[in-house]
Amino acid sequence: MRRSIIIDCDPGVDDCIALMAALGSPKELDIRAICVVAGNVPVETCYRNARGVLALAGREDVPVYAGCERPLSVEPAFADHVHGESGLGGAVLPDSAAPLSGLHAVDYLCETFGNAAPGSITMVITGPMTNLATALARDPKIAAAVDELVIMGGAGTEGGNVTPHAEFNVFADPHAAEIVLNCGRPITLIGLDATLQFRCTANRMQRMLASPHSAVAAASDMIAHVNAVYGEIYGAEGAALHDPCTIGYLLAPELFKVEMVRVSVVCDNAERRGHTAVQAPSSISDGAVIGWVTGLDAQPLFNLLIDRMERL
Ligand code: RIB
Ligand code: CA
Repeated sequence: MRRSIIIDCDPGVDDCIALMAALGSPKELDIRAICVVAGNVPVETCYRNARGVLALAGREDVPVYAGCERPLSVEPAFADHVHGESGLGGAVLPDSAAPLSGLHAVDYLCETFGNAAPGSITMVITGPMTNLATALARDPKIAAAVDELVIMGGAGTEGGNVTPHAEFNVFADPHAAEIVLNCGRPITLIGLDATLQFRCTANRMQRMLASPHSAVAAASDMIAHVNAVYGEIYGAEGAALHDPCTIGYLLAPELFKVEMVRVSVVCDNAERRGHTAVQAPSSISDGAVIGWVTGLDAQPLFNLLIDRMERL
């Protein structure tokens, strides 16, 4: 069944790849809008990048809404040292001629969810959860319109990628993550325990470099930058493709292993800011019970996502 989805992101290299795979899947995914949030790079850069991806994909019919420019309460954390100041690594995207939207992403979310049928919209989040958290704080009733949240974020056994304790999307706004993870709607959380199993290895990079398609060429330019920056950390296996896992999950959930767990977020401890405590449901009394992805089948997932990007 074709899903109506809203993608909230901080493009960002892997966000861009997720967007392109989603845009290449119109039979399965009806993308109602893209919302952007400060994260990897400032929100205005994310806004430009999301519009650039749509221009490259020939899909400037999809509206883009700029959202929160800073977290709910912690100091902002950016990742331009990974994604480049442009947020696009080594890629250059077309300038979009689409009209600018004056509507704030939080206003868009409140209006859209507020007028939508119960359980009618899937929301994908691949950046800090500030936009949805702000919308939920303004009007908690909007949660009813969400059929599922598919979120890239958190870390369990893998440890963090910003600090030893925390993954970037949750670290960047832990209070927002706590609000969203406790919103009461079905959630599938795809954290580092899963996404670090999905790497752009040399063979996969060769596959991308051999593609004649502009979206795949842009993606390889983006990832090459991350591989160069993170080479000493990622090593021979190459950069992890975190955000595209959310789209892969929507398209082929059978490629993913999901366990039901309780997740609680550390918000007010400087050293452990953004830590996600992932525990079996019976082990603790607090924290939301959500789907936690513990594994994935990387090669079919890679083939699927490249195939969709090559349809653009
Ligand atoms: O930890 C990985 C996440 O942080 C990804 O969403 C990446 O784009 C960055 O935002
Ligand atoms: Ca992201």
